[in-house]
Amino acid sequence: MPTLQSLAAVHSTTVLDRTELAPGVLLLGVHAPNLVHVTRPGQFVMVIPPHGERAAVALGIYEASGDRASIMFFVAGPRTAELATLRPGDPLDLTGPLGNGFDLSANVGTVAIVAGGVGIASVLLPAQALVAAGAAVHLYYGARTLELLVDKDKFAENGVALHCATDDGSYGHRGYVTGLLENAVPKPDLILACGPSPMLRATARVAEKLNVPAQLSLEETFACGVGGCWGCTVPLDRRSAQAPNFPGADAGGSEIVNARICKEGPVFWAHELRWQ
Ligand SMILES: Cc1cc2nc3c(=O)[nH]c(=O)nc-3n(C[C@H](O)[C@H](O)[C@H](O)COP(=O)(O)OP(=O)(O)OC[C@H]3O[C@@H](n4cnc5c(N)ncnc54)[C@H](O)[C@@H]3O)c2cc1C
Ligand code: FES
Repeated sequence: MPTLQSLAAVHSTTVLDRTELAPGVLLLGVHAPNLVHVTRPGQFVMVIPPHGERAAVALGIYEASGDRASIMFFVAGPRTAELATLRPGDPLDLTGPLGNGFDLSANVGTVAIVAGGVGIASVLLPAQALVAAGAAVHLYYGARTLELLVDKDKFAENGVALHCATDDGSYGHRGYVTGLLENAVPKPDLILACGPSPMLRATARVAEKLNVPAQLSLEETFACGVGGCWGCTVPLDRRSAQAPNFPGADAGGSEIVNARICKEGPVFWAHELRWQ
């Protein structure tokens, strides 16, 4: 997966719309034409909580069309709680687009997108791009309850086939979404996934079993979010095209190198990760 040059900038946006998709799950549309024009599917932004007292928070770019981009977030702690107080007309600064995004360059027939919880916020753009390119796109979407399967109808409206799983069985398959992926018909040519780490690890295992290449968008708590602090690393095969180049590391060095999730990622090929 090539590491692409970032076109990130700080964008001073204005909130256009605010929707509560479920209790504690917000969708904010912002006026951000310059961000929309350079965003690739799977990239994220560092959003600056408006009171100026807290660090920026990483959020996926959910929609990007015309002059409007949107972010979707689950209120998890103080920064997302602060963002939840925003209303249309309020200013909001964000830095982006950041990270590499998904590699959609291959011509594939069937793609399985696996999303768990907040992971759904990073997979609408790749789904739209793949449908536009003529792929058959299947979304395997898992959440705790039906209420938390937020915005699933938007994917259906965009020509995506839905396969849902809930922990409590209130909708679709009862259990993990990777249980559905395991029995995917037709077998996908490519898997993309975004969600909690246990789901990503399970997706990697299923992909290996099915012998299908998988790209995983990893979760991490970011400090800077722009590659400066090396506080978000993951072990990666040194031969990966995404591996950072450390001069002099060739001679007898380890075959594993640390890659920054915020900079070289957040999307990595599953078979190139060297998770412990
Ligand atoms: C590339 C990327 C994209 C993301 N996109 C989105 C998105 O589109 N929508 C969204 O709702 N969230 C997203 N997140 C997660 C979000 O950045 C964190 O949940 C963030 O910590 C919330 O900040 P907070 O101050 O509200 O809560 P915090 O106080 O920072 O965290 C609250 C709770 O969540 C846990 N937590 C913190 N970070 C993570 C994490 N990365 N994964 C799992 N648990 C975590 C903490 O341990 C704590 O228990 C993304 C994260 C990354 C790295
Ligand atoms: S969070 Fe600082 S390098 Fe990734």
